[in-house]
Amino acid sequence: MSEFYPLQVLNIKKETEDAVSITFDIPQELYSKFIYKPGQYLTLRFHLNGKEVRRSYSLCSSPFLEEYPKIAVKRVKNGLVSNHINDTVKVGDSIDIMLPEGRFYADVKETNYKTYYLFCAGSGITPILSILKSVLHTEARSFVYMIYGNRHQESIMFNDELSALQEQYKDRFVLIHTLSRPNSSWSDLWKTKNDYSYKKGRVDTKMVEWFINEFPPYAQNAEYYICGPGTMIENTKTALKGIDVPNTRIFTESFGGAIEDASVKGFKNAKLIAHLNNQRVELTIPEGKTILRALIDKGQNPPYSCEGGVCSTCVCKLKQGEVHMKKNLSLDDKEVKQGNILSCQSIPLSEIIEVEYLK
Ligand SMILES: Cc1cc2nc3c(=O)[nH]c(=O)nc-3n(C[C@H](O)[C@H](O)[C@H](O)COP(=O)(O)OP(=O)(O)OC[C@H]3O[C@@H](n4cnc5c(N)ncnc54)[C@H](O)[C@@H]3O)c2cc1C
Ligand code: FES
Repeated sequence: MSEFYPLQVLNIKKETEDAVSITFDIPQELYSKFIYKPGQYLTLRFHLNGKEVRRSYSLCSSPFLEEYPKIAVKRVKNGLVSNHINDTVKVGDSIDIMLPEGRFYADVKETNYKTYYLFCAGSGITPILSILKSVLHTEARSFVYMIYGNRHQESIMFNDELSALQEQYKDRFVLIHTLSRPNSSWSDLWKTKNDYSYKKGRVDTKMVEWFINEFPPYAQNAEYYICGPGTMIENTKTALKGIDVPNTRIFTESFGGAIEDASVKGFKNAKLIAHLNNQRVELTIPEGKTILRALIDKGQNPPYSCEGGVCSTCVCKLKQGEVHMKKNLSLDDKEVKQGNILSCQSIPLSEIIEVEYLK
């Protein structure tokens, strides 16, 4: 069940030319519901052009500090919601928001003694910033090595906050900025200040190899968190696997944008049996429609957020039949083998499909 709560916008700040951060006020009676882990996201709902639209935005605030929940939204070219937020949302507005969710988070504890490697690019800083602040504030013995990729100086989000953290935690936090198109004054400035802190280029395989080589794990217990555009995640993972980092220590969050496999047509008018919200629902899925869309179009309320194969809010168990997932950026091989599917991406390949929603 997707339940939304109206939250009031407390503050809006222009972070860069094309991004704003938004802080929300949480009414006291909702405090306990809106508890989140560093790295998780909120789902916002709007009604635009006569349609309901939902989008996920990672929390960039830290649940370990006395901060109001905050998200930051970067414009996407021709993007419906990101531009709506940047152009029209104002202080005092009420926005429908789902409780925090997400499997990309760090299990931050005072007793931890770890090395954290944080890799991010562009708006991918948001969940990383939450993890970074939480770790530095709470885990006095842990070390953080972070690399943050951007186009140029002006596109760096939270630059001042990051600099302040560098200053405050200089004994156990290293931050490298890498810019794909730096302007010259920026590079000159960094070169005189500290050669280490500035690199030119993207966060790619070579950059990650250099980074790990330059900053080997301090504590043996190392974890690797990655958030950015599709290729950046893949390139970072490739480099980490090249140095034998086990999969279990690599955590990724994609914001979407991957190409879907639309080559499979699916079964015409398959019968769907869905166990959802303590009910058994039966309906026919029109050709080409996903399980999720077929349910929504029949007035059901299945859980979903990104509808892009990324967040896994719509996950359900396939109990009978066969499906094709057009895109899957969130379930791992083991989860798929166990019969989990993303209903927002699944079209039927057999006459009867039976699924059970777990939430
Ligand atoms: C778990 C999760 C957390 C997220 N956290 C953040 C966050 O903290 N900050 C943030 O700014 N965004 C975040 N996003 C992305 C966000 O949810 C939207 O996808 C994004 O704002 C674009 O929505 P839109 O309506 O403007 O674009 P749409 O109208 O949906 O899309 C317009 C065009 O842009 C492409 N597109 C869609 N999303 C992206 C993208 N992320 N990058 C590049 N191209 C894209 C589409 O393929 C389409 O062609 C997150 C996404 C997920 C799944
Ligand atoms: S709704 Fe996000 S993966 Fe399906």
